[in-house]
Amino acid sequence: MEPTTAAAKPQFSPAAQAEIKRLLTHYPDDRKKSTLLPVLHIAQAEFGGWVSPEVQDLVAETLGLRPIEVYEVSTFYTMFNLKPVGKHVLEICRTGPCMLRGSDELTAHLERITGAQVGGTSPDGVFTLKEVECLAACGFAPVVQVREKYYESLDTEENVNAMLTELKGLVHRPILPWEENGLPTSLQNN
Ligand code: FES
Repeated sequence: MEPTTAAAKPQFSPAAQAEIKRLLTHYPDDRKKSTLLPVLHIAQAEFGGWVSPEVQDLVAETLGLRPIEVYEVSTFYTMFNLKPVGKHVLEICRTGPCMLRGSDELTAHLERITGAQVGGTSPDGVFTLKEVECLAACGFAPVVQVREKYYESLDTEENVNAMLTELKGLVHRPILPWEENGLPTSLQNN
């Protein structure tokens, strides 16, 4: 019988490590926990759009926290995915104004078109559907968030199709948190 080999322990890339180091400079040494949310975002971007228990343990180890301190945060906020997801995670707002403007119909429509059920991923692995609470864009209801982008006024088939067409054309590469403001200086000449 072949010996079973343990899965490789996840490791942050050098760029992620540099960004985490930079974040930690914002807080005293005994307040590393203050970086937990941004570090979880980095971890999710680095490891395929979700945070496995092993990845959460890595976050805990990196910040000198107990694993439970990471789990209690990752399981509280809906923006952290705790199981594998598709290329694009569609976060469908289901709160009052979006509901009044047809979010239930939108959800049913997206389930039909993508083949994914809410909470699951389409058979082709492209779309994951999630229901979330108010995205603070009620004036443009119904709204779907995909990573950093909002798709608004999705009460017409035309707008829904435009969103799906745009997403299907995107190569999947999560936008890493530090890319919004450029790489840290320490990495710019590498
Ligand atoms: S209720 Fe959907 S954005 Fe506020």
